[in-house]
Amino acid sequence: MTTSAQKVVALTVDGLVKTFDVSAPWLNRVVERKPRQFLQAVNDISFTVPAGGCLSIVGESGCGKSTVARLVTGLYAPTGGEIRFAPGRSGAPLSAQMIFQDPYASLNPRWRVKNIIAEPLRELKLRNTAAEITERVEELLLTVGLSVSDGEKFPHEFSGGQRQRISIARALASEPEFLVCDEPTSALDVSVQAQVLNLMRRLQDELGLTYLFISHDMSVVRHMSDRIAVMYLGRIVEEGDTEELFAHPRHPYTQLLLQTIPSIDAPKRDQELVGGEVPSPLKPPSGCTFHPRCPLATVRCSAEVPEIRRLSNGTRVACHLVTDA
Ligand SMILES: Nc1ncnc2c1ncn2[C@@H]1O[C@H](COP(=O)(O)OP(=O)(O)OP(=O)(O)O)[C@@H](O)[C@H]1O
Ligand code: SF4
Ligand SMILES: [Mg+2]
Repeated sequence: MTTSAQKVVALTVDGLVKTFDVSAPWLNRVVERKPRQFLQAVNDISFTVPAGGCLSIVGESGCGKSTVARLVTGLYAPTGGEIRFAPGRSGAPLSAQMIFQDPYASLNPRWRVKNIIAEPLRELKLRNTAAEITERVEELLLTVGLSVSDGEKFPHEFSGGQRQRISIARALASEPEFLVCDEPTSALDVSVQAQVLNLMRRLQDELGLTYLFISHDMSVVRHMSDRIAVMYLGRIVEEGDTEELFAHPRHPYTQLLLQTIPSIDAPKRDQELVGGEVPSPLKPPSGCTFHPRCPLATVRCSAEVPEIRRLSNGTRVACHLVTDA
């Protein structure tokens, strides 16, 4: 968590754009006279993440959260804009490790857990001798709440929550200072979810980690983050301090999201929002792309894209109707 002493920026994202070419194959286009088609998954977004802090990105399915995660970790090249990491403790620029939603898919099923965790140690030459590698693997297993003997097992012998602990241990093996977590607990039961989230919070404090955290679950995000960025169809529509955003959501979309927070007793994850479905990103609505669902939309909203503006309390909002009052 951030304190006033930790205001060094770890990551600056400036005007980030990612466009995918989703055209039909060439022959189909010629025969069916179809034009090329592009999908703007991330549309000119900017944000910073303070060192030691956690910025969460929330929004409905398809709004571009995972694309941002993949851009930040270098799995995708940006179409436009810049991603800049500040120097880390070693003086070299930080790099981000990613934790995925489905730990099973990201762990080699044929390897023993100790080898999965040792791989980054060997590859990055962080430990030299076999004894040093074994010692570090055991330390990492204990750090994430597993036992030393778990290192001998294979990924299929673990529960979902334990598997996510293994992927956290593997991510920590490369001694990252920055972790990008893409829905790390969405596939887990609620009780296990809380344990893994608490582990991640503890690791953040103990190791001084910086998180870019992605989720569509507002209650998870509230637990984890200092600041929250709300995305809608590839854009950030509101970004601000967690408590402020929950107490005084300014954008009509954030207000709708907060109305549908699942409660602990009824953890309905993919509850549909009031106001209909998300429009296709292939044909985004004109002006403010939220206007077909917005209860407050005016004529101006379908004609003019609202710029994101910073209010005096530090919140940034992209809505024609929001004033700094
Ligand atoms: N590799 C790709 N090629 C083409 N289109 C893509 C690709 N990756 C993502 N998209 C599209 O970009 C948009 C944003 O996708 P993204 O996966 O970033 O959304 P998301 O917010 O992570 O959604 P979810 O909550 O379902 O994980 C979607 O319309 C998606 O179909
Ligand atoms: S700009 Fe208009 S349509 Fe968009 S959120 Fe604000 S009021 Fe609603
Ligand atoms: Mg995603």
